[in-house]
Amino acid sequence: MTIHVIHENIDWSQPLFDHLAKKQAPYSDLDMSARSVDLMATPASGIYYNRMSASSHTRGHRYAPEMTSALLSWLETAGAPVLNGSNALRLELNKAVQYGALKQASIDVPETIVCETASDMLAAYDSFSGAPVITKHNRAGKGLGVQLFRDRAALEAYVAGEGFDPSVDGLTLIQRYIEAPKPFITRLEFIGQQFLYAVRVDTSEGFELCPADFCTLEDAAFCPADSNSGDSNAPNSDSTAKFQIDMDFAASSLGQYLLPKCINVMKTQKLDVSAFEFITDADGKPYIYDINTNTNYNSDAEAVVGISAMERLADYLIEFATHQSDRAAA
Ligand SMILES: Nc1ncnc2c1ncn2[C@@H]1O[C@H](COP(=O)(O)OP(=O)(O)O)[C@@H](O)[C@H]1O
Ligand SMILES: [Mg+2]
Repeated sequence: MTIHVIHENIDWSQPLFDHLAKKQAPYSDLDMSARSVDLMATPASGIYYNRMSASSHTRGHRYAPEMTSALLSWLETAGAPVLNGSNALRLELNKAVQYGALKQASIDVPETIVCETASDMLAAYDSFSGAPVITKHNRAGKGLGVQLFRDRAALEAYVAGEGFDPSVDGLTLIQRYIEAPKPFITRLEFIGQQFLYAVRVDTSEGFELCPADFCTLEDAAFCPADSNSGDSNAPNSDSTAKFQIDMDFAASSLGQYLLPKCINVMKTQKLDVSAFEFITDADGKPYIYDINTNTNYNSDAEAVVGISAMERLADYLIEFATHQSDRAAA
């Protein structure tokens, strides 16, 4: 059974193709950066795995997610087996939708107000009674539009000024800033709705660079899926310091608290492969603020603990394809 991989960035998908090729698994490259969808056709046999990215517009592929939505609904209504299908795409493209799903599973999310206009954003800021907030794009990835504001005047200058960076879907989130006592966030990786590992991402460099009242967090340090996206890139000497895999997270009390909740979200929202990012406040309370369905991995950090999530992903896709093929034969 062919494994059809739906994506728009070959740099991020090549490592997966390499593993599939090594395992002699037939695959096809459904690059959505230039493609039409013939609704009258019958989908090619095989299984489909969607890894469309919310940040595709930053690579010149403005409508790739919309085209992927057309493709996925065509596949699903034709009864094709799809992993990370249309609901995964719905979450990938819309943080507000992610937050609803997280809250439904009793996961704490930083308080968030979805805004369109500058005056809405300032009113949202006022509702936090002077607490620091961050702005972020509702359709994001790569830390798009993430900036920290500790005072109203700085926020006003930004949202009403020339330099305002709008989200591609027109919606900006005003979100409570979670002040972590130690500068790191943690990303929880799941493949096939099973927890694989936690990766701790050092955020200190980003904060060191920021002036007190106005700082941009848009930095590779915040995004394991950005410039340090893993296998496809040359090893980054900094990345083993920046990205540290914790293989013992599942046994920790935080792991026991968070992991079943994340798996619950994955089951409810039909996510097969995803990563959840959380930050912990001074009281040790974790807040999840991002779900990624287009996951990349840091191969330098993986080398330290001897694991390859891309290889696990390839194995999972092969297993799923074999299962579907057995079902079809029965
Ligand atoms: N509420 C928050 N409090 C503190 N830091 C945050 C918060 N939200 C995001 N960040 C920082 O900004 C980074 C990017 O935000 P995120 O929501 O993950 O956007 P993206 O989808 O673009 O990755 C995070 O990894 C984290 O370091
Ligand atoms: Mg993120």
